[in-house]
Amino acid sequence: MMLPGRLLLAGLLRSASTASSAPRMPTNMCYWDRFTWSSCYFHSTSDHSSRKAGLTAKEQLDPFVLIKDEVSEVTDRLRSMVVAEVPELTSAAGYFFRAGAEGKRTCPTVLLLMASAISMGIADGLENKPRARHMHLAEITEMIHISSLIHDDVLDDADTRRGMDSLNFKVGKKFAVLAGDFLLFRAFSAAVSLDNTEVVSLLATAVNNLVTGELMQMSITPAQRCSMDYYLQKTYYKTAALISNSCKAIAVLAEQTTEVQALAYQYGRHLGIAYQLIDDILDFTGTSASLGKASLSDIHLEL
Ligand code: FPP
Ligand code: MG
Repeated sequence: MMLPGRLLLAGLLRSASTASSAPRMPTNMCYWDRFTWSSCYFHSTSDHSSRKAGLTAKEQLDPFVLIKDEVSEVTDRLRSMVVAEVPELTSAAGYFFRAGAEGKRTCPTVLLLMASAISMGIADGLENKPRARHMHLAEITEMIHISSLIHDDVLDDADTRRGMDSLNFKVGKKFAVLAGDFLLFRAFSAAVSLDNTEVVSLLATAVNNLVTGELMQMSITPAQRCSMDYYLQKTYYKTAALISNSCKAIAVLAEQTTEVQALAYQYGRHLGIAYQLIDDILDFTGTSASLGKASLSDIHLEL
């Protein structure tokens, strides 16, 4: 599922624009005006002026184009981060990081955009180090995300993911579980090297929430199935907790105020819930071919 880039960026910048370090956005603007206002501000920062050289006017307004090179860098580094002692484990852990298998890379994209949005106004010379740490966090979050999908496919007994064989289909359930575990280990080893206990704690909370959300889905009772509160709580845990805690971790690494950290968290929370809502609707309305995975797979799991 692809959320429109403009929507992503507009949301990010609207969150960031309320932060004390950024100029206040006029409140009487319509949605598109707000996006354009935000974009102008976004693009006027030193962080992005260097990256937009050589881009067309349209490309300069496309958040995905703006950070394309950095997301590619993250993808390349991910491949080297999952090398294991046993070659079979390397290829299983790297299965979704192969060229053509990386998917939409939504997590790194959102996190790097968040990093840009909250780093507005940081002077040139100071921004390289935080940017490298933010890219590192994007890699870590992507590894946790892929680990959760690999485990989810085992639990769902899914044969396909991203329009190709799922890892469990390819190498069997036992191997897939171990590959997911290995990714999780690598993610947390990398997180420790960031030398920030709050960030490690946010990521640990996210993994705890992922497991809780998956269990809430597996053990749902008929009464809970009719409860919107239960559905939203489960959805937050299963899908939004990782991106919201990682967005907050971006703000923590940028040494932003607690107000900005909370805004970053809220942005990730809303984005994650919206993402899963659409994914759940597509599970009913989409076909297996259009989804790249079996339709109605999630509802089958609950029944
Ligand atoms: C996809 O749900 C599943 C998740 C987003 C979370 C899965 C979490 C676990 C399996 C817990 C273990 C976590 C880790 C990090 C080891 P879905 O089935 O609704 O989505 P899909 O349609 O893409 O399969
Ligand atoms: Mg699933």
